[in-house]
Amino acid sequence: MRVVVELSGEHPTLPRAEVLAAFEAEGVIVRELAVGSSVLRADASGPVPRSLARLGLAHVVCEELVRGSFEDVRAWARDQDLAGRRFRVRARGIGIDLDIRGVEGALGSDLGRTGTVDLAHPQVDLRLLAADEFVLGRVFHRVERSALEKRKVARRPFSRPISLHPKLARALVNLSRVPTAGVLLDPFCGTGGILLEASRIGLRSVGADAAASMVRGARASLRSLDEQADLVLADAGRGPWRPGRVVGIATDPPYGRAATPRREPREDLYDRAFGALAEVLPRGGHLAVGLPSEDAVEIVGRHLELLERHALRVHKSLTRIFCAFRRG
Ligand SMILES: C[S@@+](CC[C@H](N)C(=O)[O-])C[C@H]1O[C@@H](n2cnc3c(N)ncnc32)[C@H](O)[C@@H]1O
Repeated sequence: MRVVVELSGEHPTLPRAEVLAAFEAEGVIVRELAVGSSVLRADASGPVPRSLARLGLAHVVCEELVRGSFEDVRAWARDQDLAGRRFRVRARGIGIDLDIRGVEGALGSDLGRTGTVDLAHPQVDLRLLAADEFVLGRVFHRVERSALEKRKVARRPFSRPISLHPKLARALVNLSRVPTAGVLLDPFCGTGGILLEASRIGLRSVGADAAASMVRGARASLRSLDEQADLVLADAGRGPWRPGRVVGIATDPPYGRAATPRREPREDLYDRAFGALAEVLPRGGHLAVGLPSEDAVEIVGRHLELLERHALRVHKSLTRIFCAFRRG
């Protein structure tokens, strides 16, 4: 299946890394890959729609139907038989000033020979992307961006300013490469934002926090949104996790001493907790984590192999390095 993913422009590398990790999570085999700044195209086999339905840092996902000049696309459109089905064509120029109405109108009249235009409820939803060439695709997934916004922590029953935006929490979930129905652990779960996104895309969420108020609050938030997680009050380095159960870890550890129960220095906590968490992972399992500094990356790297890193600004003065590590 040839697919076209419109990446969100929120970061130069994280959106494409999320797609590749989601493919890997679901066991999709990628034969060909072309990545631009805002579009990723792939020829892939396996559960491609399921893997792409996981994304947070993308907009529209299409199956590619035809690619080439605008005339090639129009010739293809004239050859189709829509057998009266209702269709819609939407166009977007990427880095070019496209006459959107003109191209949509021309394609609409080609396809209108056998189908009926329906902008509100089409049976066949088509998208034309124009960059250095034209790509026409059939839309099969739109990322629920407004639903992600609605799940921001301030709108949940239990709110603390520590929580990541849901789209970043979703990206961490994907970087952990846990497949559908696999167990994802967040050992520093806070308000439960990562567990919420994991549960949302069909993973089994397991979480812990050293603060009882966080465990209670996360439980209430998840319940209110009809999502599930097993939560315990535990230190991240001494959790009661059965070896062999957890497939991957996605987490956002405390950045300062004040957020740890006994004001343990950050370096000590990270070394101790990530050393123990590395043992919870199966061989080949992944840890996706947002880290506050290069030192922190080095500490986690003592226990696991660093695969990728993406520095991003979480809010004005706060930078995080999103990393994926693997247990060798
Ligand atoms: C940055 S917050 C996590 C935010 C979370 N991603 C969310 O969505 O709310 C870090 C969390 O780690 C917890 N914590 C601190 N020290 C801990 C430890 N030793 N073991 C487990 N949790 C700990 C804090 O109580 C805090 O809730």
